[in-house]
Amino acid sequence: MVQQANRPDGPGATKARSSTRDTAKADLVVVANRLPVQHTSNQEGEEWRPSPGGLVSALTSVLQNRNGLWIGWAGTSEHEAPPASYEGIRLRAIDITNEEYENFYLGFSNATLWPLYHDAIRAPTFHRHWWQSYIKVNLRYATAVADSVAPGGTVWIHDYQLQLVPRMLRELRPDVRIGFFLHIPFPPIELFMQLPWRREILAGLLGADLIGFQVPHAASNFSRMVRRQSAATGTDSLLHYEGRTIRIGAFPISVDCEQIVKLARDPDIRARSVEIRKDLGNPEVVLLGVDRLDYTKGIQQRIKAVAEMFQDGSLATGKHVMVQVAVPSRETDAHYERERHNLEQVVSEMNGENGHVGMPVIHYLHQNLPFDELVALYLAADVMLVTPFRDGMNLVAKEYVMCRTDLTGRLVLSEFAGAAAELRGAFMVNPHDLEGVKEAIRLAVNAGPKEARDRMSRMRRKTYRRDVYDWAESFLLALQQTSM
Ligand code: F6P
Repeated sequence: MVQQANRPDGPGATKARSSTRDTAKADLVVVANRLPVQHTSNQEGEEWRPSPGGLVSALTSVLQNRNGLWIGWAGTSEHEAPPASYEGIRLRAIDITNEEYENFYLGFSNATLWPLYHDAIRAPTFHRHWWQSYIKVNLRYATAVADSVAPGGTVWIHDYQLQLVPRMLRELRPDVRIGFFLHIPFPPIELFMQLPWRREILAGLLGADLIGFQVPHAASNFSRMVRRQSAATGTDSLLHYEGRTIRIGAFPISVDCEQIVKLARDPDIRARSVEIRKDLGNPEVVLLGVDRLDYTKGIQQRIKAVAEMFQDGSLATGKHVMVQVAVPSRETDAHYERERHNLEQVVSEMNGENGHVGMPVIHYLHQNLPFDELVALYLAADVMLVTPFRDGMNLVAKEYVMCRTDLTGRLVLSEFAGAAAELRGAFMVNPHDLEGVKEAIRLAVNAGPKEARDRMSRMRRKTYRRDVYDWAESFLLALQQTSM
């Protein structure tokens, strides 16, 4: 589901390592902040493993069929260089120095853009030296792409860390077709206007032939913003700019449905889910949250809602149990450190006030779990709580729905997750409204089997219709159809 942010230098590491190179030019280049492999170390030793998640599988499969190359950051310079290829696709690593890790990654990407694009849930910080670092690193990515792509080839750029790359690349290689996809929300005009470098970011994105967003609302926020702040004219879906035509559209990302269903039917994983319920004391209802530990996810708010329900008697110790998995993320950032501290405080208060000896009301895991174990948890959970304050899509919601092959299970979902546009069978909540969250949890916990079944089958039908492979193919098809 997620990747971990690592500081690029270990003790004693002094300089960035050299890039992985292959001289043959690629017909299709994917460029993302990170490579599709991550460095892991455990008792058996150290190795590079594929990063988990359907996105990596889907992009890998499109690259395999098209003489592809993936360009990205290895997330570390402490260990041996990443492999030159993975599953038949070539990899090219981009170096990020310690200073750039602070200014480009933790700074401009995750302390300016991330909060700004997520409704300013935390105040975005604007620093000129962070911006300079963002330009410098984006240019490094653009130069690597320009040097790797075949004449007339196709380039697919991903996410908020690389918004200047489309224009930089167009200047270097006007012959290539450029697509850009934003995985996180695009903010409303009033918020985006705060960014001192708003014109440069918009001009950067307008270097693409196709700009994709998770939901139509984000696409229209962007189109309205560029028509106001640049010379671009046109409609929400088609813009004219500097003599070119740029397509804008919504391409909601999804999960690898077949793979999840296969795991959900696996007898060992099903047995594990029974074991999990037993370890939890075989309660009547298991509530589950699975999130990257991020302040945008509304984890504390959700736990407060559940804690109040234990106190007002809507939930009962022993009968109801919550499990919260908080996957470590961006741990070197002070905001994330504080979020973890506050979250752990809320968890311990909840257990302190409502638990019994040997019977906590919330089981909290601050861990990166293997996907098999996550599927077992999804199978063990009667009610899934996905309540972010703002989220581009939220794939946990879709993963849960795909696991519930027997049409049981209920989903409580934030209106502010991109997934809410598709998963209409969920119990919808405004995560800022604590009473509303409690009411939705109450309804979900008490929903009868028929209602749960109707809601779940609606959500499964919708999710099955377009999986992550369809998402990748449909974006690339739309990109191929753009005029150049
Ligand atoms: O949702 C945006 C995203 O960048 C994902 O692509 C990624 O899995 C997650 O956030 C964590 O990001 P980071 O690369 O900062 O660990």
